[in-house]
Amino acid sequence: MVGEICEILQLPQSTVSRQLRSLADGDWVATRRDGTSRFYSVNGEALDPAQRRLWTLVQDEIAATPSAAQDRGRLREVLARRREKSQAFFSTAAGQWDRLREDLFGRDSHLRALAGLLDPEAVVGDLGCGTGAFADAIAPFVGQVVAVDDSREMLEAASERLAGHPNVSVRPGTLEHLPLDDGALDAAAIVLVLHHLPQPDRALAEAARVLRPNGRLLLVDMLPHEHDEYRQTMGHVWLGFSEPQMTRLLESAGFERVRWHALPPAPEGRGPALFAAAAGRKDTTRR
Ligand SMILES: C[S@@+](CC[C@H](N)C(=O)[O-])C[C@H]1O[C@@H](n2cnc3c(N)ncnc32)[C@H](O)[C@@H]1O
Repeated sequence: MVGEICEILQLPQSTVSRQLRSLADGDWVATRRDGTSRFYSVNGEALDPAQRRLWTLVQDEIAATPSAAQDRGRLREVLARRREKSQAFFSTAAGQWDRLREDLFGRDSHLRALAGLLDPEAVVGDLGCGTGAFADAIAPFVGQVVAVDDSREMLEAASERLAGHPNVSVRPGTLEHLPLDDGALDAAAIVLVLHHLPQPDRALAEAARVLRPNGRLLLVDMLPHEHDEYRQTMGHVWLGFSEPQMTRLLESAGFERVRWHALPPAPEGRGPALFAAAAGRKDTTRR
């Protein structure tokens, strides 16, 4: 910032501003505005080879002078003061930071960012996609999403929701006979679907077929519960799944390296607690 540069070089603001303007006109420095502040930096990448040679020459000439050593000392102080300012803010706000964070960015901003860790080239299946919430969340972060469901109404809602993502295709089909070639997917998710299926083993074997060797499957469903009324009200076949039951089903279907996590219940959720089970499709070509 201009004020900081004045302090470091001990020059009046009018001089520093004039010099910075000339340097910016000649593309020697780049500027960036942040709120009411303007930041200046040496335009290292954009300098042509001759400019870079001249810049290095000037730097070498000046670096050895006593006033440059003093400038460096003042630079260290200015930077330390910047750090102190942000530390002071966090030490007064630490207790309230969670509330402030939620206020500014929403409750689960960190979870929404997680999808950024996905492989940007990956082809991902949302199997039993319903209205397409999962596909919608991951589509901007991966190469392609195939969303499959057997309900016409759900597919219509999913198509409408996902219309803005050119890399999503919505397809009718069942989990027992997926409309996908062998090994077509790098990863797949079956979210809140398995408890509806009379034969979950068949759906898992199908998921194994359409995943490439070492492709990953993510299963989200309910932990065992006693809401027998869900059978009538929502057509549930299974009242949740336990870890040993799920691990057995996954391993028999051709998966390995099963990782199981009971998910922390959301305070606003009134249903049973959920688990997330992730597993790798066995590579049968390996000896
Ligand atoms: C409870 S919803 C969950 C939807 C979505 N995965 C989500 O998390 O919002 C279950 C979905 O599975 C679909 N479904 C149930 N049995 C299926 C089957 N055998 N084949 C394909 N889809 C099925 C239903 O049509 C419904 O859209």
